[in-house]
Amino acid sequence: MKTAENLGATALPLDEAHPHGYVTKTIHWLSCGLIAYGHVNALGSVWQLLDPTVYRNEIIFGLLLLAVFSFRLFWTQRIAGVTRLPATSLKWEQTLSRTIQWGLYASVFGIILSGFAIAIGFSVSAAAFNGGFLSASIGLHRFALGVLPLLLVMHVAGALWHKFVRRDGVLESMTGKLPI
Ligand code: HEM
Repeated sequence: MKTAENLGATALPLDEAHPHGYVTKTIHWLSCGLIAYGHVNALGSVWQLLDPTVYRNEIIFGLLLLAVFSFRLFWTQRIAGVTRLPATSLKWEQTLSRTIQWGLYASVFGIILSGFAIAIGFSVSAAAFNGGFLSASIGLHRFALGVLPLLLVMHVAGALWHKFVRRDGVLESMTGKLPI
């Protein structure tokens, strides 16, 4: 049988995913938790930024998200490797998976940067709420917030596809061994 001996000390069949390292797994699930926290605690209206405590918490959360996702991007691109899709996975699976992963990064960075732009625009002049800069930032923020859940549904569907159809250990590469 062909093995992935070139991937590391543990030889695995080429049609089975090699596990992600514990740093990648930790950042992945930490950022998953941060996204869930951000969703639950999302502001209902931009006017809530008039409260200095809310304003400060939004900035701190945005900076934390930026730090975690920037480190994650650096770590997976430069150190640990992005994907564990087996070498035998189909071309369309690789392309779709990569496109969705880049889309997730783009929408998360889009949310963070447009959020900072809203905070800057709001602190410069809340009265200019309908001004071009602020309304463009709010438009981008809403767009990225709308796209992220769609990409996450596709991302999780992809994980389930690998678990139940391909049965190639891609889901387990990020979760560790599962009971089923
Ligand atoms: C229940 C939720 C989730 C499941 C089951 C899941 C599952 C997975 C799996 C199995 C991989 C490995 C794929 C591979 O090796 O090619 C992965 C990677 C990845 N996931 Fe998730 N994921 C979830 C939530 C999230 C969230 C909330 C985000 C970000 C907003 C995210 C972004 C990514 C990215 C960007 C990668 C590529 C590796 C990296 O850059 O860290 N995932 N996910």
